[in-house]
Amino acid sequence: TGSDVFYRPTVHFSPTTGFMNDPNGLVFDGERYHLYYQYDPFAPYAGHVHWGHASSTDMLHWKDQPIAIPETEAGEAFTGCAVMDRANASGLFEDSKGGMVALYTRASPDRQAQYLATSHDNGQSFTEYAHNPVLDIGSNSFRDPQVIFHKPTNQWVMVVAKSRLHQSAFYASIDLIHWVHLSDFGPSGLFGVDYECPNLIEVPIESGGSRWVLFVSVNPGGPTGGSITQYFVGQFDGTRFIPDDTVIGLTDFAKDAYALQVYGNMPKAEAVSIAWLGNWQYCQELPTQSWRGCMTLPRTMTLRRDFAGWLRLAQTPRGLETLRDTAIAFEVKRIAAGASAQVALPPGKALELLLSVTVDERPRDLPLGDKGRTGRFVITFGNDQGETLTIGFDAFSGQLWLDRDELKGFAQPFFTGQFSTVLNPDDRHFEIRVVLDACTLEIFANGGLSVGTALIFPVSPLDFLRLEANGAGATVEQVELFQLRKVME
Ligand code: FRU
Repeated sequence: TGSDVFYRPTVHFSPTTGFMNDPNGLVFDGERYHLYYQYDPFAPYAGHVHWGHASSTDMLHWKDQPIAIPETEAGEAFTGCAVMDRANASGLFEDSKGGMVALYTRASPDRQAQYLATSHDNGQSFTEYAHNPVLDIGSNSFRDPQVIFHKPTNQWVMVVAKSRLHQSAFYASIDLIHWVHLSDFGPSGLFGVDYECPNLIEVPIESGGSRWVLFVSVNPGGPTGGSITQYFVGQFDGTRFIPDDTVIGLTDFAKDAYALQVYGNMPKAEAVSIAWLGNWQYCQELPTQSWRGCMTLPRTMTLRRDFAGWLRLAQTPRGLETLRDTAIAFEVKRIAAGASAQVALPPGKALELLLSVTVDERPRDLPLGDKGRTGRFVITFGNDQGETLTIGFDAFSGQLWLDRDELKGFAQPFFTGQFSTVLNPDDRHFEIRVVLDACTLEIFANGGLSVGTALIFPVSPLDFLRLEANGAGATVEQVELFQLRKVME
């Protein structure tokens, strides 16, 4: 149908047909980056889960590949990871080159256990190990293994969710087949129902050094509703994860970035993630028919100290500059209080907006009736159907909002319209990078410390961009607008 085409992203991965959720098996094999994913090839609804597959040399241009791991009589092929067993630790490869090993959950109504499969052709096809499962604790809520090679202790470490117990369990192995329990982390973090998709990775601190970050997805029960990815910063000693403090972070201030997974076997130390750009609250009702589901852009992750000294996750889109096409001319330097500047947008193109703004100081001698008045800088993507997508900055509280409520292509009780986040308190300056691509919006504010990921469903193309200063004037230090080149056919 028309909406299947209109809402199809051009710089984000989406399946040609069927239903997609979590990214799986994110690994670099020496030549290609793999993106496997939770996939129902038969219908645009979650069910009959297979591992779909796409590959890329830059994590942006994806090539569709045949299904990698099917549903079998033993159950659906739930979320998991892939590692490169170059040293043939598993003994499952014939030659000295080793190969790829996938570890994932087989899920049946009464059992979730961890399975292993090998690939002798760099991730194109997999053969299930003859003696699966490799890890079974008799549970029906035990899933989503991620495996890393922990160099200091010279062993493979698995983190896997004991989902209803709100725990991430750690196991060790030398051959990827026999697993020994090490420790359990949690309950810790948000309440909610299931803890899913734990992922552990060492993330560089921008000022030097590194820290381990444990990502744990929670569904339902996120503070913005439904699905959310939370993270803990700490250390991992090969046996247990020890958080630095009792603070939890959220990867997103909106609600459409779930089941975040990280890349393994990266060519150089770099922490990169992809999340499912969706939420279980409404993913099966979205206004497309033949396909549902897309992924976030790949994001480089670092840790940075925020205004209060806490180490927080910063995320930036990886390599997006390489997709920049025509720059759209838009010259703005000053916007007076109450004024605005507007530019037309090319319909049907993915766009990137870079903006750096300082709102004027609040006048000291405001009359009593104006005391509550604030300086708000408003970014609007809109059309002549009266649809608007708004991102706003309240300069005197340092907060940012996102409003997708005035888009009319989708309504559902959980498809909430407004989100907000705090940037720097008492700071009238902000920087933002916005990627708008068909049904997706990604906001990276203040160097990626505040990220908002949202599905958006306008009825007609958003064909203008307006910048507006309310209550106080603003200086625009940078405004750049790019069309992005298509990565998917
Ligand atoms: C997370 C999740 C995982 C599970 C998979 C099933 O979104 O529920 O826990 O393995 O999706 O598709």
